Amino acid sequence: MKRTLIRHLLASREPQSAAVAQGWVRTRRDAKGFSFLELNDGSCLANLQVVVDAGVPGYGEIAHFSTGASAEIEGALVASPAAGQRWELRAARIRLVGPADASYPLQKKGHTLEFLRTIAHLRPRANLFGAVFRTRSRLAYAVHQFFQERDFVYVHTPIITTSDCEGAGEMFRVTTLKGNIDEKPQEDFFGRTAYLTVSGQLEAETFACALSNVYTFGPTFRAENSNTARHAAEFWMIEPEMAFCDLDGDMELAEAFVKAMARHALEHCAEDLALFAKFVDKEVVNRLQFVADRPFQRVPYADAVEILRNSGRAFEYAVDYGLNLQSEHERYLTEVHFKSPVTVFNYPREIKPFYMRLNEDGKTVTAMDVLVPGIGEVIGGSQREERLDALHENLRFHKLRPEDYAWYVDLRRYGTVPHAGFGLGFERLLMFLTGVGNIRDVIPFARTPGSAEF
Ligand code: 4AD
Ligand code: MG
Repeated sequence: MKRTLIRHLLASREPQSAAVAQGWVRTRRDAKGFSFLELNDGSCLANLQVVVDAGVPGYGEIAHFSTGASAEIEGALVASPAAGQRWELRAARIRLVGPADASYPLQKKGHTLEFLRTIAHLRPRANLFGAVFRTRSRLAYAVHQFFQERDFVYVHTPIITTSDCEGAGEMFRVTTLKGNIDEKPQEDFFGRTAYLTVSGQLEAETFACALSNVYTFGPTFRAENSNTARHAAEFWMIEPEMAFCDLDGDMELAEAFVKAMARHALEHCAEDLALFAKFVDKEVVNRLQFVADRPFQRVPYADAVEILRNSGRAFEYAVDYGLNLQSEHERYLTEVHFKSPVTVFNYPREIKPFYMRLNEDGKTVTAMDVLVPGIGEVIGGSQREERLDALHENLRFHKLRPEDYAWYVDLRRYGTVPHAGFGLGFERLLMFLTGVGNIRDVIPFARTPGSAEF
């Protein structure tokens, strides 16, 4: 007989005389003449309650159906007399698939997230992580749906690259050389120095300048030595790029995208959201509703700096025109001042990468960051410099070697068009949608400074 996933059993419209469930035992309670099992297969948050009478085949082994063990149960799906659940499985036969002894670490409820990180290979079996990773999967699907419905073409940009898109020098080196790897880079595997990509943007631009609207969705890597709750060395980024598009169009797409993700979570992840509301962030559903319904605020960088300077707050990091906004500043703007997601745009040229388009003022560039409550920056993007001379001047300004960007500059030489795009950090989006406070808990196996176990 074929197994049915527990989420389908629990959603059944009618009783079923013969069904098979397979999963992991969460708890067992023995009574006189029968036992209760709570079985979970990860297909949904809820467990399936199983009632096993002492006489059924397999009952002799009931003592081994302990927390963490895997089991197969054949039986009848019947209306449950217990409160809070519609169906239960009356076992006709039970089979222990794999035992788990008393050393199974997920015995009790209430483990800390820190402890669960040390057992990242088992934590998907904890309710919170089942919910997080089901949500992650569902949202990955929503990302593709959003762009595919809008005629964006999905482009797989390379993971190994020789150019530093963000110019921040935070790249992991890819090499097969031994010893002094800087001595003869021409003898390295690729004949030159190569890295793991920090962004697929430069390559995505080449495709936008051919296919009009494109997006990437893949892993990116940053060797930033910042041990914070929102930085990972390996994270997933979604990067749309649009030809014939300016900064306004870019901000519009960014806002529509974040809203669509919030709406999708509300519509399709309700059971898991209820768990997040109960255990990690009781405001999560209200927040998503708010984000889905209300327009985002927009503010130029210069005004944002004024707001921060007049806030009367003693920030840890200085606020001044020309300095980067730190997480505490971003959060003040979105959480305290605007009480809404906010898009900050037109940043000073000095603190942004070479590819951004210089504004008429000659001082600011068409950059935009979307800030959301609880996280700060979730999106960074810009209109790109499409004018050949201006791009050359940007390369000089940022002390980059034009020969390293020859192919990128070519796009401005042959049929250049105004174009714009952004990058959304998928893990930051998930933190925002779930209320989970640490990036390490929304990615299956976190890579952070000093830690790459599993
Ligand atoms: O602002 P960033 O650096 O922008 C870019 O990489 C552009 N090339 C994107 C583009 O225009 N196509 O990064 C974009 C987003 C950030 O807003 C943040 O959400 C996420 O990527 N991000 C990180 N997420 C987790 N860990 C890190 N270390 C991250 N660094 C950036
Ligand atoms: Mg950024």
